[in-house]
Amino acid sequence: MTKYIFSQFILNWYHKNGRKDLPWQKNKTLYTVWISEIMLQQTTVKSVIPYFKKFILNFPNIKSLNDSTLDDVLHLWSGLGYYNRAKNIYKSAQIIKKDFQGIFPDQFLKIIKLPGIGKTTAGAILSLSLNFFYPILDGNVKRILMRYYGISAFLKDKKTEKKLWKIIESITPIYNTGKFNQGMMDIGSSICTPVKPKCKICPLNKECIAKIEEKWEQYPLKNIKKIYPKKTSWFIIIKHNNYFWLIKNTEENIWKNLFCFPKFNSKKIALKWLENKKININSHEKMTSFVHKFSHFSLHIHLILIKISCISNFLQKKNSSIWYNLKNPQHIGLPQPVQKILKNFKKDVF
Ligand code: ADE
Ligand code: SF4
Repeated sequence: MTKYIFSQFILNWYHKNGRKDLPWQKNKTLYTVWISEIMLQQTTVKSVIPYFKKFILNFPNIKSLNDSTLDDVLHLWSGLGYYNRAKNIYKSAQIIKKDFQGIFPDQFLKIIKLPGIGKTTAGAILSLSLNFFYPILDGNVKRILMRYYGISAFLKDKKTEKKLWKIIESITPIYNTGKFNQGMMDIGSSICTPVKPKCKICPLNKECIAKIEEKWEQYPLKNIKKIYPKKTSWFIIIKHNNYFWLIKNTEENIWKNLFCFPKFNSKKIALKWLENKKININSHEKMTSFVHKFSHFSLHIHLILIKISCISNFLQKKNSSIWYNLKNPQHIGLPQPVQKILKNFKKDVF
């Protein structure tokens, strides 16, 4: 298949089947496409939609991000995961104010320097919003190319990555780049899926090597399944009527700057902490444990619920802790499991 035919198949498919009415595809600007591409980096279209709408409503432009706090941004990101993305958006907005008069730049070399943006995201922003000629190579595009050209290698292999960039640079059309890129991502996420690709309806099925060989599972090669480490955490939920005591996580980890219940590595340490802080306990009960999955480990979360009727000295200190008001929540960032726990209490309250 020649370069012309490959891109033409994708563009024809996009014309007939591609999604064109997603919230970030309407009234496109560099700013809205940037936000959507950051959200879509590690999250599915379906999960991103409500978060994107809420985000743009609250932060319609760079200035509104500059006028807010990081806690405000994390608040709207709560539940979406990978919170570094929100921090990078906040940081980028500050850089854009300082270096680019508050206007999102339309130059590749400026965009790529912003935190959280690599070659593919910068290319996606410029091609999807302004139809500039920039090829992209995300996980979806890589999988299609490896299957179509029969490149049997590991996804993370640097040499393969170089080769794939060369290929995508040569087959991406100079015109309609945005539609081609969106078409490739759409086909990758809906047709050429990691398992059970729907080759029957794929526009590339005539010459695709993986399809011809019926060996799509070899492209790309799979790493031997890793066994994810299990970690355990004990959360102490301190409840006073509709208020919950949360502390800002200052540790350098994935939940940095988010508000959490006091958390400990073991039950023993958790109970020792309660004893040390002389918190007056009304009642003390163990709630159902659950597992929260991260990309690199799973966290087994155990919960101890402490209901208190009066607030001890320790709990009145305000430096990095708050009494979270379930009925009128403060604008702060919450990790997904904390949000989930609070949501469950909400059911009881209302
Ligand atoms: N993943 C990253 N960007 C995307 C987009 N624009 N559409 C679908 N999936 C994506
Ligand atoms: Fe993927 Fe099948 Fe299309 Fe080949 S024919 S690109 S394996 S969906």
